[in-house]
Amino acid sequence: MKQLIDKLYTTNRLDTDEYLHILNNIDADTTQYLFEKARLVSMQHFGTDIYTRGLIEFTNYCKNNCYYCGIGAANTNADRYRLDLEDILSCCETGYELGFRTYVLQGGEDKHYSDDDIVEIITRIKQGYPDCAITLSVGEKSYASYQKFFNAGADRYLLRHETANEEHYKKLHPLNLSLTNRKQCLYDLKEIGFQVGTGFMVGSPYQTMENIVEDLLFIKEFNPHMVGIGPFIPHSETKFAKEAAGSLELTLLLIAVIRLMLPKALIPATTALGTINSQGREKGILAGANVVMPNLSPVSVRKKYSLYDNKICTGEEAAECRFCLSNRMQKIGYNLVVDRGDYKF
Ligand code: 5AD
Ligand code: FES
Repeated sequence: MKQLIDKLYTTNRLDTDEYLHILNNIDADTTQYLFEKARLVSMQHFGTDIYTRGLIEFTNYCKNNCYYCGIGAANTNADRYRLDLEDILSCCETGYELGFRTYVLQGGEDKHYSDDDIVEIITRIKQGYPDCAITLSVGEKSYASYQKFFNAGADRYLLRHETANEEHYKKLHPLNLSLTNRKQCLYDLKEIGFQVGTGFMVGSPYQTMENIVEDLLFIKEFNPHMVGIGPFIPHSETKFAKEAAGSLELTLLLIAVIRLMLPKALIPATTALGTINSQGREKGILAGANVVMPNLSPVSVRKKYSLYDNKICTGEEAAECRFCLSNRMQKIGYNLVVDRGDYKF
């Protein structure tokens, strides 16, 4: 087993059977060995620096109905909101003062915002904060739309592939959504020149270890700049309300494996990871993650951006989370830095 981890460390890739062997058979000692290797690689590229991204959840309207997600259109109990341009700029101002140099604009697939509206948001943020990076996370769009956003100054784009297996994709999404289109979007974004992030949920319903290996192989082939993985957590108002959550252990193991596959990737210790375990984000960093993404949304809307139940930090102000995270990172020997945190090509 240790030889396999050494092979992954030195060559940054394994075969299907080898990944499967690790996932199915790794023991506690070897897991620690894997985390040490992953930390070593992170340390080589980022030292003790942890990059922060200020997340602005600007709309929870969504036309889609992904079976796992609490803000799908089918959830008529969701309390819907949209932030206007002034609200968004005010989040940016708060964020800037706190030391954020990347803003992540995330929302459901909300038809209310035209491409021009998104372009205006990007343009105004870039005018006010020219030293900051903008990451978009607004779902599947056409090549032309992505190009407009890029031309307006957006730097990065997050679009998790969710699962790289066609059959599994169909079990998580209604028929109008396809893995083919999702992958096309990812390739379009990369071609246009965005720093692109993809990823998947760990322990989503019907996921097998073989599916996870397909995710790893897809990630290696696509070679993203960022990889976001977090545990699936059920939401009470969705089709998957009664399903079990993904595990902390498997999520950490996969963070470490992905760090060894893509040494320079930007990998967040996600809020979902912090939700299933009170030390989840710290453990994520110690397994090779190097990014945290605290919330900059106004506290008045935070509970409404409910992708899954019991999400942390919905009652805290942005400043409280910044200080909290800064302390948490210092306790484990890392530091939040004031930096855009771009991918180092
Ligand atoms: N549990 C965990 N993660 C979720 N996401 C959506 N719903 C859930 C859930 N119930 C993730 C998806 C999406 C990202 C924004 O949040 O992977 O891409
Ligand atoms: Fe939000 Fe700790 S990060 S309260």
